[in-house]
Amino acid sequence: MSQDIFYPDRELFKNSPIPDMESYRKLVKEFEDDYEGTWAKFAREKIDWFKPFDSILDESNAPFYKWFSGGELNVAHQCIDRHLSTKKNKAAIIFEGDNGDQRILTYRELAYEVNKTANMFKNEFGVKKGDRVVIYMPMIPESAIVMLACAKIGAIHSVVFGGFSADALRDRIIDANAKLIVTADGAFRKGRPYMLKPVVDKALESGCDSVEKVCIVERNGEDIDWIAGRDYSYNELIKHQSSKCEAEPMEAEEPLFLLYTSGSTGKPKGVQHSQAGYILWAQMTMEWVFDIQDNDTYWCTADIGWITGHTYIVYGPLASGATTVMFEGVPTFPDAGRCWRMVEEYQINQFYTAPTAIRLLHKMGEDEPKKYDLSSLRVLGTVGEPIDPPAWKWYYEVVGGSRCPIVDTYWQTETGGHMISPIPSATPIKPSSATFPLPGIMGEVIEKDGTPTPIGEKGYMCFTKPWPSMIRTIWNDPERFKKSYFGDCKKDGKPVYFSGDGAMVDEDGYITITGRTDDVINVSGHRIGTAEIEASIKKHPNVASVAVVGKPHEIKGEGIFAYIVLKDAPKSDEVADDLETMKEINQIIKSDIGAIALCDGMAFVPDLPKTRSGKIMRRILRSIIKGEKITQDISTLEDPTIVSKIEEIVRG
Ligand code: WT7
Repeated sequence: MSQDIFYPDRELFKNSPIPDMESYRKLVKEFEDDYEGTWAKFAREKIDWFKPFDSILDESNAPFYKWFSGGELNVAHQCIDRHLSTKKNKAAIIFEGDNGDQRILTYRELAYEVNKTANMFKNEFGVKKGDRVVIYMPMIPESAIVMLACAKIGAIHSVVFGGFSADALRDRIIDANAKLIVTADGAFRKGRPYMLKPVVDKALESGCDSVEKVCIVERNGEDIDWIAGRDYSYNELIKHQSSKCEAEPMEAEEPLFLLYTSGSTGKPKGVQHSQAGYILWAQMTMEWVFDIQDNDTYWCTADIGWITGHTYIVYGPLASGATTVMFEGVPTFPDAGRCWRMVEEYQINQFYTAPTAIRLLHKMGEDEPKKYDLSSLRVLGTVGEPIDPPAWKWYYEVVGGSRCPIVDTYWQTETGGHMISPIPSATPIKPSSATFPLPGIMGEVIEKDGTPTPIGEKGYMCFTKPWPSMIRTIWNDPERFKKSYFGDCKKDGKPVYFSGDGAMVDEDGYITITGRTDDVINVSGHRIGTAEIEASIKKHPNVASVAVVGKPHEIKGEGIFAYIVLKDAPKSDEVADDLETMKEINQIIKSDIGAIALCDGMAFVPDLPKTRSGKIMRRILRSIIKGEKITQDISTLEDPTIVSKIEEIVRG
């Protein structure tokens, strides 16, 4: 199938901003000829500035790049208020709950709710511009409202995914020095209530001195503890707020939000995004990559706790004045037809999800999509990991009726928005390739010294010029920012942004992402650092050392596998104890990080393959779990016989 090329159906894309490859190439060239001028043109056209910017790109303090300095805007105004003159009665958010409950908020209603919430934050909780607000919420409209309310008053939000544990939440609260926590009692999943507020209570038990107030949205109505003077009901306070609120003028480079993501050390990184550059690219990619048109209904199935939820459920769609669908629950409840039923019911035009969800839905309901009318669909999207050919084929043929282009969007928390992706109206698509960098994005596959990697060989996926929506810094850790992204690759002697991914270019210039080159694994499209999991496993009193690697997984893409050396190495007749220890270890991971980091497998081994200087050879461990032949030279190991011993344990 990899030889097949799929061309867009012109009939489906009549009003597209980039209607064909010729326009794509023209735009790419425009950026090449006048990089700053072209960005400035889009910035002026797309953003409703309160005050125009005085400079376009400021590289004087590289890699701390600045875009559109001196300009003033407000992201909530850009996403809501500026649409009120033309789209006040248009649906902004369509919500469907796990129980099938529905809500529609028009742009006018969204404006009222955001303004009331913003006033609540200011007047009841004393939140000021620059203060950090941690949001630990389920998938309900209030989550978007709370994010936008922060944007309206210039508070910096940090959304923590609702699947993270109390300890993980606490670390993020402390790192951001948050003043206010916004949460919900809980929500619903698979027909049953689950809880969030008790996790916040536990997180706040120690070390979170900066937190003054907790604001609780009612969703599942279950009983929760209330701490007088600290905990406040959103639903009560909102009744008394004015629905008018002036948008705080924000300088282009002031932080809009933090979002923590895993790196190759044990400590998550607080990725800091800007106001203007971020919202500009969120809006532009919504228009280019999803071809969003005025009457469209767009649905991204991500969770707002990840960057996809930020950029492509909340900020991008609303900045473009679109109708965005939000859903609570899981794609497989009440049955594997939930997504397809929703596509039919809401007449979804763009559907954006992750390969892991596609594989799951394919497995659970091969013919399920055929039961529904999916003819409204025009663009299908995927994100988070490479999409494998069987999943691609099913998505294209059965879901899209061999009619809809699949936009395989490659990007990261740090890039803010799409980087490499087909443009559905223009790009001939090769399955399993994210195709070409978007216009304005200087994506290159290079060697560490900047020379282009030969065709068909694996190189480093780099971005050789700064772009507006890029990460600005790591909160509290500018040195780590420099080292993590600008420490590995150079072009013309100048450090360039390295994504951490390997990639390959084919003879037609199509880029295929080959996966992480660092110790980060991609579980169900989410990044988890092996070091974080290892640090957690080491907390078990009987663990002497551990190495965690990714293991191919049918649904998740990659699963988590741990090689563990116990302090009292078990004898062969103590298998039952092993199971007990495994359970204990997974329990520690669950309370340290959350269920997403649970190990799919563990092996208790006598030792790890180490070099004489003590470095663990993870590559060997990866080969063993994949069942690959070991090609590495093992003679340099401290104890070369360990490799066959581990192989026997894992394979036997
Ligand atoms: C990592 C970023 C971007 C939102 C979701 C994940 C991998 C992402 C693709 C794709 C191949 C992909 C990369 C990247 N990735 N999209 N289309 N094809 N790999 O965000 O948690 O920041 O993870 O996801 O490895 O570095 P994230």
